[in-house]
Amino acid sequence: MYYLDSNIENLNRIFDQHKRQGYLRLDLNENPGGLPEEFIRETLAEVDQEFVSQYPETLEFTTVLADYLGTDITHLCLTNGSAEAIRYIIQAYTAPGGKIVGVVPTYAMFEVYSKMYGRNFIPVEYTEDLQMPIENILAKMTDDVQLLILVVPNNPVGNLYTDEEVETLLAEAKKKEITVLIDEAYHYFCPKTYIKYALENEHVFVTRTFSKLFSLAGARLGYAAGWPQGIEMVQKLCTPHNVNAFAMKFAQKIITTDGMIEGMIKLQKEGREYLVNSLDEHGYAHHGNEGNFIFIKPKTDPATLVDRMKEEKGILIKTYSGIGSLGTVLRVSTGEKQYMERFTEALYELDK
Ligand SMILES: Cc1ncc(COP(=O)(O)O)c(C=O)c1O
Repeated sequence: MYYLDSNIENLNRIFDQHKRQGYLRLDLNENPGGLPEEFIRETLAEVDQEFVSQYPETLEFTTVLADYLGTDITHLCLTNGSAEAIRYIIQAYTAPGGKIVGVVPTYAMFEVYSKMYGRNFIPVEYTEDLQMPIENILAKMTDDVQLLILVVPNNPVGNLYTDEEVETLLAEAKKKEITVLIDEAYHYFCPKTYIKYALENEHVFVTRTFSKLFSLAGARLGYAAGWPQGIEMVQKLCTPHNVNAFAMKFAQKIITTDGMIEGMIKLQKEGREYLVNSLDEHGYAHHGNEGNFIFIKPKTDPATLVDRMKEEKGILIKTYSGIGSLGTVLRVSTGEKQYMERFTEALYELDK
């Protein structure tokens, strides 16, 4: 008898958006500037026939990454973007019908994977002023919860927790035997990290990506950090050779090039500071101090602005509705100053 999993049949997916080339892309939190052309050319110059024709080998890069993070390879599993790591953690550490607690709004794939595997996603909503008191999370962490997902900083709201708050949540999770997934996709835009908890404890994972600051979204590379047995479970779920050789080559060169990461962070900071100051000067309400994205409350209709930005200015941005007392807002990815200048110039011209 033919069979189709009803979770898959009923799943709503937004498939990849196409034809974004040539636009200033401030809609998906990529790095709009990307890596320097010269760096890309130099890295590709090392690629030869053998490199392309053989299956990718992960040991060298995983060792470099482990050294960089101050750990060893048993604590890391490389994945095809961090979205893959998130999927496997959900698959391995929750049961059909099992409860997963996470704040909303957040990265959409947590709920998508929950539905894909027939899990029960329990949302914790922000307050009207976009705060996330941890008491609201604790209240949902009942004995039957299997996974708690924290995003630090959370996309798209841009909030952080204090260290004490995270420690309280981790202690409660441990008491109730709830696995914790801390998503640090936006780690490099803000220095806060909880990776040491994943490296030193059982049942705590941190996921990270090379898609954001590292500008490798097109190459797909992420990883899960955690305790060795947990990492082994994630590894077991990976398809053979899930990680692309080009992605590892680029990532390795970024990590091992002196001052490269610091330089990229500096450019991002300058761009963001410029944007925030300019929005303040022009009387715009905005929200979110962390990450490479910001909510902006426009003066005119947000949906019209998104369309006009694309059609008239070649700039891609997004809207979000139901964002507390701000209502419907623009979400704009931040990047180097030159791109932020192009965005603000367009905003001030169109938003009146
Ligand atoms: C919070 C968060 N986690 C994970 C991801 C997935 O990134 P990737 O699969 O490119 O590593 C994203 C992408 O936007 C994100 O916003």
